[in-house]
Amino acid sequence: MVHRLFNHGLLGLGGSMFNFEKIDPTEKKILSYALIFTATQLFLIGIAVAFLGRSVPTCQPNEKVFQKGEFRSVGPKRYEVHYLAKMWSFEPQKIVIPTGSTVDFFLASKDVTHGFHINKTNINLLAVPGVINKSSHTFDKPGTYPIICHEYCGLGHENMHGEIIVADNVVEATSDLPQETVTPPSETPGLPTKEVPVGKILYEQKACVACHSLDGSSRVGPSFKGIWNKTVELEDGTQILVDEAYLTESIEEPLVKIVKGFGPTMPKTILTPEEVKTLIEFIKTIE
Ligand code: CUA
Repeated sequence: MVHRLFNHGLLGLGGSMFNFEKIDPTEKKILSYALIFTATQLFLIGIAVAFLGRSVPTCQPNEKVFQKGEFRSVGPKRYEVHYLAKMWSFEPQKIVIPTGSTVDFFLASKDVTHGFHINKTNINLLAVPGVINKSSHTFDKPGTYPIICHEYCGLGHENMHGEIIVADNVVEATSDLPQETVTPPSETPGLPTKEVPVGKILYEQKACVACHSLDGSSRVGPSFKGIWNKTVELEDGTQILVDEAYLTESIEEPLVKIVKGFGPTMPKTILTPEEVKTLIEFIKTIE
């Protein structure tokens, strides 16, 4: 049927411009329904965009991901904001714009996946590492529009938010972004600038933290402290070296080898091979 549809329907259409008469009646029906359905969908999307103010989020995967937040005025009451989502804040955190402004939002992530929802609007995006997501909104009503991260991203997730302030009497739109002349944070004395290792982020995000401590204390599973390159005893009495192969297997197939004293309780966690490697690199560092 599909084959026939292809030969008669599509090739028929292409080969000898609208040879509609030759098509089997049933196929004709299917083709017509498909066309009507597609046209209706496009029409409805058109209405939503043109009259209901719905914005269609777009992804720009080929553009180089920006590494810092940016706030730009591109015309009267027209702004472009580059939001950089990172653990656990948005950059910029706050912008102030006049009522009636239209803002193009560009969103990128510096580390893991974050959410980006602006309350009281239909802007709802994900900040996915490696891509830029885009959406627009016109702020017709004055007020404070909180931005929240709605994708669990680690310990500080709850506190990850920003705000957009829309007011009538704004002469010049502003943001809380530092000016170019501000010294980079690494030169600020007394502040720790060490970034959180990605492995640790995974350890928290993928909930390893729930069962495996880092300080040697026993939880549902063995602690990660000092585990690397040590020999552990399994349920059946065999001794095994904690190396890359053992850890990889234990993460991917948790029930194959059970450490003595612990139950077969570990769930399978969905991780890419790269994530497994990163996690193991992190476990190696827990001494
Ligand atoms: Cu970022 Cu939750």
